[in-house]
Amino acid sequence: MTATQAENIPQIIAFTNQVGGSGKSTSTVNIGAQLADFGLRVLVVDADDQCDASVALGYMFPDQIDGQKTIYDCLTDKTVKLQEAIVPALCGPYGAEGTKPIDNLHLVLGSGEMENAEQYLTTAMARELWLKRLLDQVKGDYDVILIDCPGSLGLVVIGAILASDRVVACIKPGFKELRGLTRIEQKIEAILEDFAEYGAHAKLTDVLMVDVPTHRSQGAVWDDGKNMARDAYGDLVLPGSTEGQLGIRRSTKIPESYAHQKVLLYFDRAGEATADYLAVTKAMGFKRVAK
Ligand SMILES: Nc1ncnc2c1ncn2[C@@H]1O[C@H](COP(=O)(O)OP(=O)(O)OP(=O)(O)O)[C@@H](O)[C@H]1O
Ligand SMILES: [Mg+2]
Repeated sequence: MTATQAENIPQIIAFTNQVGGSGKSTSTVNIGAQLADFGLRVLVVDADDQCDASVALGYMFPDQIDGQKTIYDCLTDKTVKLQEAIVPALCGPYGAEGTKPIDNLHLVLGSGEMENAEQYLTTAMARELWLKRLLDQVKGDYDVILIDCPGSLGLVVIGAILASDRVVACIKPGFKELRGLTRIEQKIEAILEDFAEYGAHAKLTDVLMVDVPTHRSQGAVWDDGKNMARDAYGDLVLPGSTEGQLGIRRSTKIPESYAHQKVLLYFDRAGEATADYLAVTKAMGFKRVAK
């Protein structure tokens, strides 16, 4: 473990952007798998009603598993403990032949019912603390907790930021996308001000560009997007695995791996996007745990 890893266990990281489709779920599960491969004990929290993190980690229908609790049950029923909603992350579809659990990687199962979460939280007591309180129940069990946020800046996401040590903003390259980051920064600032007494201390520590075109033919934003991000966010912008490249390159393996419900590390071990996620995970300050 690195010094930063050891100082603050577990390290809690929220993957956010109010803009939909900006690579939050893809990055949460693939960085999670990489960290687990490093030998860290990792928990992925699926806080989005689309349940993409759950699907990517093997659970296509998280609400339909007999007797299994989900994040929504934990949110709405104080008698349900977070442990009850935690399942092993899988490589392949749940119940299919050959599907195996991924070592060191667990998942707080998502739920389609989370679409009612904002409404529920509107009238709940100490609503912004909902996720912090739940994560406190399992803190000792994990080295790193990654939260896949929905594409909004509502109460679910405020709760995620409030529970976190650091925030990773995921963006696709482009001017509009980059402008959207200002709102996340403002939101974090407001949360820090309003909830300092509850220990709010999250920082925007990383900007992760995804779906980065590798050739001009793939889009005019090729160089511009890269330079704009660097100009605006400097060293916060995470590098990729090749010289001068930022973030995660565009790769057809990403939608394919999602469709197969296998993280990149097991779907396309030697692939470019897999190498980029490894580089990003290292650039975030993590390394393989010595055995
Ligand atoms: N590097 C990449 N190359 C190609 N496609 C990508 C890449 N990264 C993400 N995508 C695709 O972009 C889409 C959005 O990604 P993802 O679901 O991770 O975003 P999100 O921010 O979680 O979206 P939402 O806000 O809807 O939850 C998906 O179809 C995904 O396959
Ligand atoms: Mg998502």
